[in-house]
Amino acid sequence: MKVVAIVGSIRKESYNLMLAQYIEKKYSNQFDLEILRLNDIPMYNQDTENEPPQSVVDFKQKVKEADAVLWVTPEYNASIPGVLGNAIDWLSRVDQVMIGKPSLIMGASMGNLGTVKAQGHLRDILFAPGLGSPVLQRNEVYVGAAHNKFDSNGNLTDESTVKFLDSVIENFVEWMKLYV
Ligand code: FNR
Repeated sequence: MKVVAIVGSIRKESYNLMLAQYIEKKYSNQFDLEILRLNDIPMYNQDTENEPPQSVVDFKQKVKEADAVLWVTPEYNASIPGVLGNAIDWLSRVDQVMIGKPSLIMGASMGNLGTVKAQGHLRDILFAPGLGSPVLQRNEVYVGAAHNKFDSNGNLTDESTVKFLDSVIENFVEWMKLYV
């Protein structure tokens, strides 16, 4: 199975990127994970949505070809980051590549609540008509205090988080088979 991870942070040392990279390595025997970064996605513009820039064409194509999407995002000002909302706007238009595609949401933040508000907003957004993505319920991964949970090589070292992630990924793999 092929999964793409959309990372909602474009910074180099992103904890959310670390989390996606950890999942890519740890569960490589369960699915292929390709991490998509949003650094080269220009601002959505309705004037160009039918003939978007090449980076957007490539981004949408990768999402279209994936069996499922893993959203790994920080919380910015109690919601999703602008770069993520912008990418979602592109995905929601024209060929609407998210419709019917299963999603799993997770996120890491330095605060204790671990992106709980951002994830709630993202879940609502994914139910919008232009997205129409079924989201795995009851498997909510909030990695709070992220600066204490990764080592200097980007490995997730917090044992309870590792164990919980194992169970969520197991549930995700079983559930996504319903849609493949
Ligand atoms: C933040 N941060 C933050 N954290 C949080 O838990 N709730 C919030 O509302 C916000 N808001 C916020 C706004 C802006 C503009 C920035 C730059 C940061 C802190 C955030 O969790 C922290 O910077 C993470 O490390 C960002 O994720 P990455 O880049 O490490 O993946």
